[in-house]
Amino acid sequence: MRFQLTSLLALATVSIASPTWQAFEDWAKGAGGKSAPDHTSPRPSISCHPKSPHVPPPSPPPRNKVCYVQSHNDGVTDDSTYILSALHSCNNGGHVVFREGIKYTIGTALDLTFLEHIDIDIQSYIQFTNDTTYWQANSFRFIFQNVTSFFKLGGNDVNIYGGGTIDGNGQVWYDLYASNIYTLRPVLIGIDGLHNSILSNLVLRYSPEYYHFVANASNVVFDNINIAGASKSVNVAKNTDGWDTYRSTDITIQNSVINNGDDCVSFKPNSTNMLVQNLWCNGSHGISVGSLGQYVGEYDIVENIYVFNASMHNTTDGARIKVWPNTPSALSGDLQGGGGSGKVNNITYDTMLIDKVDYAIEVDQCYGQSNLTLCLEYPSPLTITDIVFKNFNGKTTSKYQPEIGTFACSSSAVCNNIVASNINVVSPNGTDLAYCLNVNETALDVTCSTLYKGFN
Ligand SMILES: *[C@@H]1O[C@H](CO)[C@@H](O)[C@H](O)[C@H]1NC(C)=O
Ligand SMILES: *[C@@H]1O[C@H](CO)[C@@H](O)[C@H](O)[C@H]1NC(C)=O
Ligand SMILES: *[C@@H]1O[C@H](CO)[C@@H](O)[C@H](O)[C@H]1NC(C)=O
Ligand SMILES: *[C@@H]1O[C@H](CO)[C@@H](O)[C@H](O)[C@H]1NC(C)=O
Ligand SMILES: *[C@@H]1O[C@H](CO)[C@@H](O)[C@H](O)[C@H]1NC(C)=O
Ligand SMILES: *[C@@H]1O[C@H](CO)[C@@H](O)[C@H](O)[C@H]1NC(C)=O
Ligand SMILES: *[C@@H]1O[C@H](CO)[C@@H](O)[C@H](O)[C@H]1NC(C)=O
Ligand SMILES: *[C@@H]1O[C@H](CO)[C@@H](O)[C@H](O)[C@H]1NC(C)=O
Ligand SMILES: *[C@@H]1O[C@H](CO)[C@@H](O)[C@H](O)[C@H]1NC(C)=O
Ligand SMILES: *[C@@H]1O[C@H](CO)[C@@H](O)[C@H](O)[C@H]1NC(C)=O
Ligand SMILES: *[C@@H]1O[C@H](CO)[C@@H](O)[C@H](O)[C@H]1NC(C)=O
Repeated sequence: MRFQLTSLLALATVSIASPTWQAFEDWAKGAGGKSAPDHTSPRPSISCHPKSPHVPPPSPPPRNKVCYVQSHNDGVTDDSTYILSALHSCNNGGHVVFREGIKYTIGTALDLTFLEHIDIDIQSYIQFTNDTTYWQANSFRFIFQNVTSFFKLGGNDVNIYGGGTIDGNGQVWYDLYASNIYTLRPVLIGIDGLHNSILSNLVLRYSPEYYHFVANASNVVFDNINIAGASKSVNVAKNTDGWDTYRSTDITIQNSVINNGDDCVSFKPNSTNMLVQNLWCNGSHGISVGSLGQYVGEYDIVENIYVFNASMHNTTDGARIKVWPNTPSALSGDLQGGGGSGKVNNITYDTMLIDKVDYAIEVDQCYGQSNLTLCLEYPSPLTITDIVFKNFNGKTTSKYQPEIGTFACSSSAVCNNIVASNINVVSPNGTDLAYCLNVNETALDVTCSTLYKGFN
């Protein structure tokens, strides 16, 4: 049975002294009279397949306490105090519920790095306020690429699911960014130091910037995440990457649908042991390693990545590796870099459907530098080794026709063992050329050309 809203609010933040489900049932029968007010969602059982990650996915123990989050339920008033209170009461073994049919509003930057052994069951709708002045002054700073976030999620054994929606109220940000590129747009899900955790069955909408920034994390699985949020004005929703990983290891991203306007998934500096499988990406910039080598004096590592069975539609790229050259370069006022070092090693892109993609494959060591001569004068010290692209099928757009891809290393000394096999991708007029520079052409199942068509 469903409670009326009033009685639900009166009951909110239920916590039970005895740590057993039987106790909860008994308590509920006593208090509610008829049947148990168990409005918790069953925890989804998540497995990683067809490919298995490097470490087994988390298997959280059962929880023994339930906390319902109160709400003003008016779509305006900040519910942060209620949210923090429920998370604290149910931390260390509880199950926090954002009830179906109730709206929650967040207007305060929340530090949620204290979470331990907790299920967060988001059945309803959570929206961040549109107060861009407040958020720019109070959002969490992540340093890398000026990333900020509405809240900072961290801790151990955190399980978030429930089928609900988290809405970043992005429209005000898309419009503000169009008038000022230095606007600090928060990412929707900002992760810093999250371990042995699962985020699944969530709908994410209208992020001001990236949907997920995953930093300092290990053994985290993302499953069945649905991402979308196009701008309704003339100002495009920019930099809305699906996932960016940073200083993280053993992350799995799978079974998800992404409609966005930048990288579908992007592996930023120090991303290792990543598995990405069964993704459907529409309108993005592809599944990318990088950009890397952006900051002078830093050593970036992206290693042991497997991307399996991604379906790419209306994207600028399918599989992409982007590295800044060894000379200062600028993509735009707020995105510049070059001169960093590091390594990209053991990356496999296996089974990719190419449907109206500009470049099916793009290896680019001149990222942000439109002057190729200048890029080649200052080759990147960042090595690219043991890369496999295999089982690609489909058709590109006519943008770079007759080419379907590019393999451009800034020197042959830094690229080794880049292989492309079983590439059945053609441009609209049937050609399968690819620009090749400083790579072993025999290892590439494309027709190499020296015709420079430029970079995305
Ligand atoms: C911001 O949200 C408030 C409350 O929902 C609304 O009244 C206001 O019109 C919104 N402002 C903008 C610029 O969208
Ligand atoms: C990650 O951890 C490092 C080292 O503890 C810390 O300096 C940094 O602020 C954390 N967050 C990010 C986003 O790098
Ligand atoms: C960060 O922001 C500052 C000023 O707002 C800007 O000068 C700089 O280019 C930005 N850096 C990056 C990496 O976007
Ligand atoms: C990445 O790892 C390398 C090697 O441990 C380290 O030198 C570098 O500072 C790390 N970079 C970041 C951004 O954490
Ligand atoms: C590939 O991913 C799609 C979803 O995009 C899924 O329907 C299909 O079953 C997956 N194939 C394999 C072999 O897992
Ligand atoms: C794919 O993206 C385009 C452009 O953003 C959009 O018009 C289209 O509806 C999307 N396709 C689906 C199936 O969502
Ligand atoms: C390469 O990465 C894969 C995961 O993608 C891993 O299984 C394999 O052990 C790695 N190879 C080496 C030599 O580390
Ligand atoms: C790609 O974009 C075209 C034109 O915008 C649209 O007709 C098509 O449905 C899109 N593809 C997908 C898979 O949504
Ligand atoms: C590109 O760089 C080269 C080498 O530094 C320089 O001579 C040339 O003028 C540059 N071209 C343009 C269009 O800036
Ligand atoms: C394919 O199109 C390109 C330009 O778009 C043209 O240069 C090339 O000759 C065409 N190839 C064929 C086989 O028609
Ligand atoms: C180039 O690739 C071919 C085919 O994979 C391989 O046999 C050959 O050894 C490679 N050459 C070099 C110099 O790595």
